[in-house]
Amino acid sequence: MGVSQNEKILVTGHRGMVGSAVCRRLADTDCEVLTAPRETLDLTRAEATEQYFDAERPDTVIFASAKVGGIVANDTYPVEFLTENLTMAVNTIGAAYRHGVQRFLFLGSTCIYPRDCPQPITETSLLSGLLESTNEAYALAKIAGLKLCQYYRRQHGVTYHSAMPTNLYGPGDNYHPEHSHVLPALIRRFHHAKLTGQPSVELWGTGEPRREFLHVDDLADAIVHLLSLESPPDWVNVGTGVDLTIRELAEKVANTVGYQGEIQTDPSRPDGTPVKCTDVTLLHECGWKHQIDLQQGLENTYADFCREVDAGKLRSA
Ligand SMILES: NC(=O)c1ccc[n+]([C@@H]2O[C@H](COP(=O)([O-])OP(=O)(O)OC[C@H]3O[C@@H](n4cnc5c(N)ncnc54)[C@H](OP(=O)(O)O)[C@@H]3O)[C@@H](O)[C@H]2O)c1
Repeated sequence: MGVSQNEKILVTGHRGMVGSAVCRRLADTDCEVLTAPRETLDLTRAEATEQYFDAERPDTVIFASAKVGGIVANDTYPVEFLTENLTMAVNTIGAAYRHGVQRFLFLGSTCIYPRDCPQPITETSLLSGLLESTNEAYALAKIAGLKLCQYYRRQHGVTYHSAMPTNLYGPGDNYHPEHSHVLPALIRRFHHAKLTGQPSVELWGTGEPRREFLHVDDLADAIVHLLSLESPPDWVNVGTGVDLTIRELAEKVANTVGYQGEIQTDPSRPDGTPVKCTDVTLLHECGWKHQIDLQQGLENTYADFCREVDAGKLRSA
């Protein structure tokens, strides 16, 4: 449950991976879901945002809109990543407050924690060290949005709070050949290797780094749960707390896809951080735990990938 009957909930970014999962989850409730495509509501435009809140008067906002991108895009266009994300957050959080919204859930990300913070990552690591330089602009904007929620809560008594999801996967993911995240990239590569009869697939690096993955439908469920709490934490990690090596992940993806060739590694390529995993103690204390295990989630995601390929609608922008 988590949300009240007839509650009007605005989901921003509803066509995105997270926003669409949240809309699917809310479809099981009695609330009224409001959405607005970017063509009619560009959240970087302050006046349009105010007018929207004036007209629609949501009770609650789930903020799943963002300008997101891979390392190359983040590194090449830091001006746009900082400006657009910051402006969207300031406009939306401010307009919500000015129009009586009592509940606001802001989407952060574990990628905004400091680069070298202790593992597993706890919520107290925020702002405790230097950010990863390649996504600094994005992280600064997100941190500002998250802190703005905290400040509104402290100064004005509204329940504005944030969730910090780990790496996500699931329906609606981006399968761009160069810019996608590791899990969708592996699905795409193994699928292609199976169809073309490739004898082997090569992983970048040693395959030893450990990573954590959460199905986006679990995130949507966690969001609805957090909205049901009277006094949620200002920000809380949303993950599984379970990690595996990239090699183990690749083996699981290959099995799911039905690829029977070899998996090779290329240790001459960089590995990145050896371990990245969230501490989910606070999340569990909040009464929520993930439900979808990785194998089940991979099967569901691969089925969705195949449907999208067949329909010629695979997202790869
Ligand atoms: N994906 C992950 O692995 C992951 C992990 C941790 C946290 N998160 C967080 O979750 C949030 C959503 O991510 P996502 O993966 O769902 O991203 P996504 O699939 O790219 O979706 C982003 C959405 O934001 C909308 N948007 C962008 N600029 C806008 C603007 N100016 N006005 C109105 N809408 C705008 C986009 O609209 P269009 O449909 O028009 O493009 C899109 O619907 C982000 O804050 C991200 O940091 C994601």
